[in-house]
Amino acid sequence: MRYFFAIYIAVIIAVVSILGFRGDKSEKTPWMIFPDMDNQPRYKPQATNEYFSDHMNSRPKPAGTVIRGQGWEEKEVFSEDYLENYSHSTALYEGKNEDGSWATEFPIEVNYETMKLGREKYDIFCTVCHGAAGNGKGVTSKYGVIPANLLLDTYRTMPEGQIFETITDGKNTMFGYGEKVTPEERWAIILYVRALQRSQSATIEDIPADQRKELGL
Ligand code: HEC
Repeated sequence: MRYFFAIYIAVIIAVVSILGFRGDKSEKTPWMIFPDMDNQPRYKPQATNEYFSDHMNSRPKPAGTVIRGQGWEEKEVFSEDYLENYSHSTALYEGKNEDGSWATEFPIEVNYETMKLGREKYDIFCTVCHGAAGNGKGVTSKYGVIPANLLLDTYRTMPEGQIFETITDGKNTMFGYGEKVTPEERWAIILYVRALQRSQSATIEDIPADQRKELGL
């Protein structure tokens, strides 16, 4: 028993001096009984690297890399003159004119096909909240969401480019749809929104006189 305490204390001193106190900082790699794959050779992002000529670990994207998400078009990724075109139409891609003001004209062709595309995309992406007629009474309005009533004068007079930005990036509680609808589709949606606004404020004067009879008016 006399030696027991002496040996006991000697063992504690030995263990503490080898392993250190809990929480002590150490530069040495810790002992790992099950290392799994915790430690592997790797390069840290943005650190320097003498191997590459630009001395950076981060490598440029290989040519022809395809971006993730669905808001892209083949020509954006594969065509060399895409950037060239892009810089020539800020309205189409950003909803703004070159001087930074909101675009107020459609940078896409306005025809029946575009209108049809706009309707299709509106029904997929907007109807749930803004309602099929654009009056803000979509199904989600029953569950506490308060979507804008797109038929109000505020939105009738809102520049097309500003609506484009709302679709791209969202607004307050509305989520952005830039990743899901291409710029051309966004413009088609705006065209359809304009048609909804027009249709909901139509008067008898809008119908040519000879066609009013057909409607029983
Ligand atoms: C999940 C619901 C939801 C969907 C889907 C949705 N919106 Fe909205 N949207 C809202 C809400 C909520 C607001 C009001 C945001 C606020 O509080 O200002 C709004 C506002 C707007 C505004 C007015 C923005 C402003 O500047 O005041 C426009 C324009 C608009 N939405 C267009 C669209 C279009 C076009 C689509 C389809 C691509 C769409 N929204 C899809 C919920 C939605």
